[in-house]
Amino acid sequence: MTLLNLKYPILQAPVGSVATPELAANVCNAGAMGSLALTWEKPQAAVRLVAQMRALTTGPFFVNYVLAFPPKSLDAALEAGAPVVTFSWGQPGKLADRVRCSDARVGIQVGNLDGAKQALDSQADFIICQGVEAGGHVQSTTALSTLLAQVVEISGSVPVVAAGGLANGADLHRALQQGAAAIMLGTRFVATAESRAHPVYKQALVDSKPGDSVYTLCYDGSWPYAAHRVLRNATLNDWESAGCPQVGHRPGEGETVASDNDGYVLRRYDDDPPLSSMEGEILDCCLYAGTGCGDIDDLPDAAELISRIWNEYRALSNADAKPTIARSHQHPGHMKWGNDE
Ligand SMILES: Cc1cc2nc3c(=O)[nH]c(=O)nc-3n(C[C@H](O)[C@H](O)[C@H](O)COP(=O)(O)O)c2cc1C
Repeated sequence: MTLLNLKYPILQAPVGSVATPELAANVCNAGAMGSLALTWEKPQAAVRLVAQMRALTTGPFFVNYVLAFPPKSLDAALEAGAPVVTFSWGQPGKLADRVRCSDARVGIQVGNLDGAKQALDSQADFIICQGVEAGGHVQSTTALSTLLAQVVEISGSVPVVAAGGLANGADLHRALQQGAAAIMLGTRFVATAESRAHPVYKQALVDSKPGDSVYTLCYDGSWPYAAHRVLRNATLNDWESAGCPQVGHRPGEGETVASDNDGYVLRRYDDDPPLSSMEGEILDCCLYAGTGCGDIDDLPDAAELISRIWNEYRALSNADAKPTIARSHQHPGHMKWGNDE
């Protein structure tokens, strides 16, 4: 499977505005695949971001579009040379053809078996199987291990990437054993040196324990009624204590909780995560976190994290000097990674 030619079977999830080209490119340069979330970017910004990525890395990277919103910068990103596009929260239909016409690859994130069948019908180059353990907005209502088994079963030679609640080499080991070709990590990459997340948010991830992430509808912003997973905080506690009231009746609604010097304001219940440029009640903001948050104990840089995950995986799998070849026949859908000797 020569699809992506990754050295390591690890993808950095699109993590909204938290991922910078620096983070994504460092991931690529370390032998994994980085990404940018372009859903909310204007075409000009998408061109600039893709150009930045191409200047910073020669490795493959992907750009993501959440199909709950119109993919207004997709054409621009493709023209700028995005090599891989993933779609989430919907099926791309004809958009997949548009991507392929630009010689780019298509990945589709799914949250259930029916979505996986549709992705296969759309001839996705790879499928991202997201479990309910995922941080950020959660497409799935099914545990990753259950859904992954179902999706791998029907995927044939199409690689399946496991996502949701994964943070370390043991998670990689488990996912590959289940037939995944790779894993995709979101929350774990939020807690890296290069991420744009506010330091207080990063530290909250480091301090979090297993069970601190909550699946909820508490935050909305521009995307109401979309389930998400976050760290428990005062905003969530107060909303739950008030009986989870609807918009217009929530405690502290409309209060400014954080802002930056450019006039960007986060109000209570906004679904944007706090960035490093902001000041305010950072812990009251929307702190996305998957169930793997309890396994986050530090803030490494991306390259260090990737090599650590790989070493943990190797220790567990008793891999020999050529683990990539040893593994490559285990599942026909494996993405190629490592040396091709
Ligand atoms: C801060 C944050 C922002 C996210 N933004 C996006 C996004 O823009 N598009 C998308 O498809 N998924 C997004 N996700 C979900 C990820 O793609 C991925 O499915 C999830 O992070 C995997 O779970 P994990 O966080 O437990 O690793 C986001 C996740 C986080 C933590």
